[in-house]
Amino acid sequence: MTITFRNETFRDDFTFRNSLYNIRRFPFPFDRDEYMYSVNMEPHVRGKKDSVFENLIDVDEHYVAEMQDRAMVLKEDPLRCQALPHMMAAQWDTLELLMEHQAQDYPEHFTLEKNGDRWRWINRPMGIDDTFTFGDPATLPYPPMEYITRQAQGDFCIVDQRDNNLWMDAGMVTTQADWSLDFDIGMNFMEWHGPVPLAHQIGVFDRALKFLLNLQQGKPTRRLNWTTTVNPRLDTSPENYPKWGPDRMTVTPDNVGEKMHLRVELQSLWRLPRSNAILFVIRCYLISLNELVTVPKWGRRLPRVLKSLPPEIIDYKGLTRNRPIMIDWLAKYDDGAVTSPGI
Ligand code: HEM
Repeated sequence: MTITFRNETFRDDFTFRNSLYNIRRFPFPFDRDEYMYSVNMEPHVRGKKDSVFENLIDVDEHYVAEMQDRAMVLKEDPLRCQALPHMMAAQWDTLELLMEHQAQDYPEHFTLEKNGDRWRWINRPMGIDDTFTFGDPATLPYPPMEYITRQAQGDFCIVDQRDNNLWMDAGMVTTQADWSLDFDIGMNFMEWHGPVPLAHQIGVFDRALKFLLNLQQGKPTRRLNWTTTVNPRLDTSPENYPKWGPDRMTVTPDNVGEKMHLRVELQSLWRLPRSNAILFVIRCYLISLNELVTVPKWGRRLPRVLKSLPPEIIDYKGLTRNRPIMIDWLAKYDDGAVTSPGI
């Protein structure tokens, strides 16, 4: 399908919007009226046409604008992209995986031609046509992970596997929900998850780590995570907290529908073939409450979920001030119907 890429911003005048088509395919993350952390993982297999699961690496109408925003973040702060020296094989693995998926599923926008180690990559939306030698970083304008993740939606961490643990040893992280690659680089699975409340105590991270250590090549897995963001801002990093933190104080009952966004991360995990590392893709989707309530079952469910949250999760997700405003505004969309589990 040919995608019409939107000309829009995720900062300053915030012109980001979702088309009707994109609203319909938004990955609403709640399959019941309450929410608690769990090991919510499932095989990352193709899903329904016109859903975000149709292709395993999803490209949508925000692609070009997101890549422009990433370039701006990197210009201001190059440390959003880092790779430790032993991760070079994993970088090439990542380049191959993203090029192959984008070219296979969006042939009108991307082409990959392989002639032995001599590869030609064409990215039409971004006007790129490069020929390079796979395995030779000198033939690319950036190191391989940076090169391809400047051309792929979502944040990316590459974790190395050793000593029965996973280590965050490389990443491109410019659209994160308040955590820092520069802070986490070199940490292991339990260390970088240190700030998360409740989940350690109920064994979520022990089970998740065990599962991931056994992840097999060709059998990627996925989960959804969510938070909220004031304004459609992609870069809500700790580094830039002074830019976006004060936005939380600007939400009122009159503007909450427009300003408050549900931020959903479709996270997929891929075992990489040469390096045995794991690629962790965090694909971020934003939707304003105004857009969200156009789907009645989502408008009904979201206030119920927000009411159900334990105080620790409210605090961790930065919802303390604005949750009551959201619940009050959303109340009119809850008709009281009894619902059964399922999206
Ligand atoms: C949060 C990375 C896999 C569950 C986080 C955070 C990071 C992260 C950086 C933010 C922590 C902070 O506040 O500083 C990763 C990476 C993974 C991975 C690199 C794969 C290698 C998983 C898996 C699960 C999981 C498999 C569960 C099954 C969570 C939860 C949170 C979290 C529940 C809190 C999110 C929230 O409430 O918004 N993760 N994670 N993570 N992670 Fe992971």
